[in-house]
Amino acid sequence: MFETLKALAPDPILGLMAAYRADPNPKKVDLGVGVYKDETGNTPILETVKQGEALYRAAETSKTYVGPPGDPDFDRGMEQLIFGADHPALTGDRLRTVQAPGGCGALRVAAATLNRAAPGAAIWVPDPTWANHVPLLGDAGLTIKTYPYYDGATQGLKGEEMLATFKQLKAGDLVLLHGCCHNPCGVDLSPEHWDAVAALAVERGFTPFVDLAYLGLGNGLEQDAYGVRKLAATVPEMILASSCSKNFGLYRERVGALTVLGRNTAEAEIAWGQVQNVARGIYSMPPNYGGAIVGRILNDAKLSAAWREELAAMRDRINGLRDQLTQKFAAKVGSNRFDFIRRQLGMFSFLGLGKEQVATLKGRYSIYMVDSSRINVAGVNSKNIDYFVDAVCSVL
Ligand code: LMR
Repeated sequence: MFETLKALAPDPILGLMAAYRADPNPKKVDLGVGVYKDETGNTPILETVKQGEALYRAAETSKTYVGPPGDPDFDRGMEQLIFGADHPALTGDRLRTVQAPGGCGALRVAAATLNRAAPGAAIWVPDPTWANHVPLLGDAGLTIKTYPYYDGATQGLKGEEMLATFKQLKAGDLVLLHGCCHNPCGVDLSPEHWDAVAALAVERGFTPFVDLAYLGLGNGLEQDAYGVRKLAATVPEMILASSCSKNFGLYRERVGALTVLGRNTAEAEIAWGQVQNVARGIYSMPPNYGGAIVGRILNDAKLSAAWREELAAMRDRINGLRDQLTQKFAAKVGSNRFDFIRRQLGMFSFLGLGKEQVATLKGRYSIYMVDSSRINVAGVNSKNIDYFVDAVCSVL
């Protein structure tokens, strides 16, 4: 039977990990897969994660199933973190959350649940969007359509075109929005854009589907949550996939959450049951460990405050690197061509290079980035920044 299957090219993002590891060049630079790196190039385990693990281990008495919704402390903790404890969606008891195996698990279960509610419904995704959105959402049965988003000429948002598209949507349509730190382009909606999207969702009747994978890595936890909070305070229904991979550094533990906002408690409860039933048919129940750690951190005031500091340090490092890159490129190129790096947010930016230039950077300099010229800013450090800037300038 397997002879009918075709060999696939490596995944456009994950394939870079293997290629980078196999490269013997001591000067190699990894700006590929979106993981945070510190100044030494390591992806550290957060101190608060170690402490949360120790707390959890000390109290752990059983390895029995965690149950379909996952760890209740995690679920409540994530709702309060994302929406804020006083948000009307929380106080109105309209939110329901399940722990999921990573943001991807949450996205897939969300898509499959939505496809039960509205088979084959159109889901509008930004152009461009994270490459894995297409299989995660499309293979669940939803119909992928794109809305204008990134403007390569200005390295900013096609705000007017985006809103003009949303004005044409109808009830039953879904709109995928990156909550903050857009992957791959680093361009986010302004608060005014979020306000306009929320108003249009009500006017046109489309349902927002938010992917929040980088909360806290843009401007700060509160600022980064503006859009999701605004939507949840405005629209009758929405669905949210969130991830703890980046902001808790728990990548391989696969920790994410799926949250539904219902028109009322009863409908949220029904949607929550459906979500759990969909998950049961895919992986049955979420893995426990990573969610248990996050649950301990978020439910311990001291630990939670310390985690916010660790998160701020990661964010500040990324934003500092954005400043440094902008300055170094300006000095080398003699123009403001790369100033957009400073204006964008989160881990990613497009350099605006063609595929051949990206291939040259890899072949000649062992600098790894996605073919679209997306770089993971966090992969830059004081040892490789000049090498990287010089190499990019050599292919311009
Ligand atoms: C990325 O975009 O590099 C990350 O989200 C990792 C992944 O799974 O693609």
